Amino acid sequence: MERPRVELQSERYVLMLITILTIFPEMFPGSLEFSLSGKALGKLWDLKTINIRDYATNKHHTVDDSPYGGGAGMVMKPDVVHMALQSAISNYDVKPEILFMTPRGVVFSNKVVRNIMTPTIPRGIVILCGRYEGVDQRVIDYWKTNYGMMEISIGDYVLFGGELPAMVVIDSCLRLVPGIMNNAASTENESFSVDLLEHPQYTKPAVWNGDNVPSVLLSGNHREIALWQKEQAKRITQEVRPDLWMKYEVGRE
Ligand code: ADE
Repeated sequence: MERPRVELQSERYVLMLITILTIFPEMFPGSLEFSLSGKALGKLWDLKTINIRDYATNKHHTVDDSPYGGGAGMVMKPDVVHMALQSAISNYDVKPEILFMTPRGVVFSNKVVRNIMTPTIPRGIVILCGRYEGVDQRVIDYWKTNYGMMEISIGDYVLFGGELPAMVVIDSCLRLVPGIMNNAASTENESFSVDLLEHPQYTKPAVWNGDNVPSVLLSGNHREIALWQKEQAKRITQEVRPDLWMKYEVGRE
């Protein structure tokens, strides 16, 4: 069988190659082309898209079929998804992390990011984006059992497909790639790195709309500023995320 074309966004990669399996490859790089992730694209990470439809075996390039047992919607065919995944991993020397974006997965969090990105930054990540009502369970089970595929949900809501969730996961993972963030310290302090939300931020002008920037921030006293920021972080977390606050309190005990 002729090997479908794999679209590489740039010529070479140094650190991390991410392969997306989707029936809408045009959606990528999407938001990842912008800002710091965009700047590093082709330098510190690279992106390939594989069109799942290229692995369909019939002349209509069908990737889905009606569900056994009836019901609405269509299910992605196991043979087609399997071939696409096999093709994706054949591009890697070292086994990549394999992720499947699905509302039935473990809910994405900074802990999941760290699971993927530590102890060593993976050389490769393959992400399967589902569409329709889902993917045939047999191919999911096969890749979970044999390749440790991780099922990830970005939250308790259902989207049309896994493409936006994949972008969310990639964006978040890239922040841990050395050299992508301007300031290494900022990844550590940010929301969710610790179990506290971030303190409020202000910039010039010092008075806007009759509202003053908190005076401590103009004091130049770094110790006082750090204390104030920590107090604010605690206050906001208590107010809007009691669940995170509990975790923080437990962690301190
Ligand atoms: N596909 C559809 N909805 C999703 C979600 N919430 N998370 C991950 N993949 C999805």
